[in-house]
Amino acid sequence: MSTDSIADEIKFAYWVPNVSGGLVTSTIEQRTDWGYDYNIKLAQTAENNGFEYALSQVRYEASYGAEYQHESTSFSLALLLATQRLKVIAAVHPGLWHPAVLAKLGATADHLSKGRFAINVVSGWFKDEFTHLGEPWLEHDERYRRSGEFLEVIRKIWTEDNVDYRGDFYRIHDFTLKPKPLNTPERPNPELFQGGNSTAARNNGGRFADWYFSNGKDFDGVTEQIDDLRAVAQAHNRSVKFGLNGFIIARDTEKEARDTLREIVEKANRPAVEGFRDAVQQAGNSTGDKKGMWADSKFEDLVQYNDGFKTQLIGTPEQIAERIVAYKRLGVDLILGGFLHFQEEIEYFGEKVLPLVRELEASQTPAAVL
Ligand SMILES: Cc1cc2nc3c(=O)[nH]c(=O)nc-3n(C[C@H](O)[C@H](O)[C@H](O)COP(=O)(O)O)c2cc1C
Repeated sequence: MSTDSIADEIKFAYWVPNVSGGLVTSTIEQRTDWGYDYNIKLAQTAENNGFEYALSQVRYEASYGAEYQHESTSFSLALLLATQRLKVIAAVHPGLWHPAVLAKLGATADHLSKGRFAINVVSGWFKDEFTHLGEPWLEHDERYRRSGEFLEVIRKIWTEDNVDYRGDFYRIHDFTLKPKPLNTPERPNPELFQGGNSTAARNNGGRFADWYFSNGKDFDGVTEQIDDLRAVAQAHNRSVKFGLNGFIIARDTEKEARDTLREIVEKANRPAVEGFRDAVQQAGNSTGDKKGMWADSKFEDLVQYNDGFKTQLIGTPEQIAERIVAYKRLGVDLILGGFLHFQEEIEYFGEKVLPLVRELEASQTPAAVL
């Protein structure tokens, strides 16, 4: 399957399993490995099966079923160097990175990969990761205010000379980065993704990012976020694209897919999921309007720690393709997929699901005017 993108085709990303334990906190068999060799082969498989992006995860400490983790930016660079077309998004925490240091790393990574580096700014839910490192843990909306400055600063450093910036969190004095990252026909600088669902995340996405990444959501949940996000972007004379997480269980029959979901949840690692549930109270639930991540998640939802079951991409290739195209009609530009057995299932997705998505998209595109 070609990975050449046509402007109005929905795009696909996959979660890089650079953290042990797979994408579900369950003792079900997972033929997924967090190591280097597995991930290199997976990235190559993904770009040959219609995936345009890979998102690596950042976690610094053993926690909630993720005992081991490879660092996000360095691992992303390794994947970039082993692939030809895949764009790899590294997850980064403001508060642990200085934006200019990351801008420097990003410029080098972008040159080495010929313009395929991107970042996902994550504002944090895991208090221990900050306090164990002796860093202050800010209140939710303050974390996002810092992320907003971070996004502004890094874009400025990537695109302007003699940058001056006076923020509450960052101060830059007459700083010029050389070389800048590449300015390619596709984008002027490495793409900036903003992960998170809260009102603060929507504001940052609309004001500062190129992409907004949502946790798993049903149709109503997606519509509500897209409305808010677009309103913010329009108010700032901008546009922003929307990426949606979904855990994909595609099987030849719906029964097989549903049975797999049931087994994942039945075999949940309960203490790890419960511990995670406590820790993520620092995210959506700590805000006034409770629109953020995990605020309404049930135990079953949290077994996929980014609410990926809520997107319901579970069933036969036909059922999943139809649902993906329905999300696209609501304004989703990209699906971020997680899988149980990444290697086999990304191949299956590329072979069985993706061609159906493209067929449905083509049949729904208004006929070209001759
Ligand atoms: C697609 C996506 C990927 C994320 N990746 C990470 C990650 O790798 N590491 C991390 O600590 N948080 C990650 N987050 C979570 C954010 O750091 C943060 O906890 C979240 O945005 C807070 O949610 P809220 O704004 O809805 O309250 C991710 C969020 C999304 C939507």
